[in-house]
Amino acid sequence: MNILVINGPNLDRLGKRDPSVYGSETLKQINEKIEKFARKIGVDVEFFQSSSEGEIVSEIGKADGVFDGIVINPAAYTHTSVAIRDAIEAVEIPVVEVHISNVYSREAFRSLSLTAGACRGQIAGFGADSYLLAIRAVSGKI
Ligand code: DQA
Repeated sequence: MNILVINGPNLDRLGKRDPSVYGSETLKQINEKIEKFARKIGVDVEFFQSSSEGEIVSEIGKADGVFDGIVINPAAYTHTSVAIRDAIEAVEIPVVEVHISNVYSREAFRSLSLTAGACRGQIAGFGADSYLLAIRAVSGKI
């Protein structure tokens, strides 16, 4: 079983970016944690990060039939991107949305996710552990 983990804009700056909201771990450290956890439950993971909406759309499409599922943190595109929502809707593999922070306890605009409705579900607010919970959730849907 293999799962693609996609991270959107500014998540490459984790560790430096607003640590009171997103914690002090870098994306590399989080990915290592995900890899370790995934290995334990028999899942292979690959990682993709981009700040470009178009690249994320393409990567979702390319993953269909190649990966068994996707875990995605669309970051700010969560709240704006019809294109990423449509890309998620267009693939047959299960997709689970992740947020490090609890988007529902922050600014009002973060409470709207355009992308979550196209996903099997959403996990938000558990810091880096949100990704581990999402890996478990996707693997259960495969
Ligand atoms: C985020 C929440 C988004 O609102 C924000 O734009 C991000 C990160 C999170 O993981 O908590 O970049 O997706």
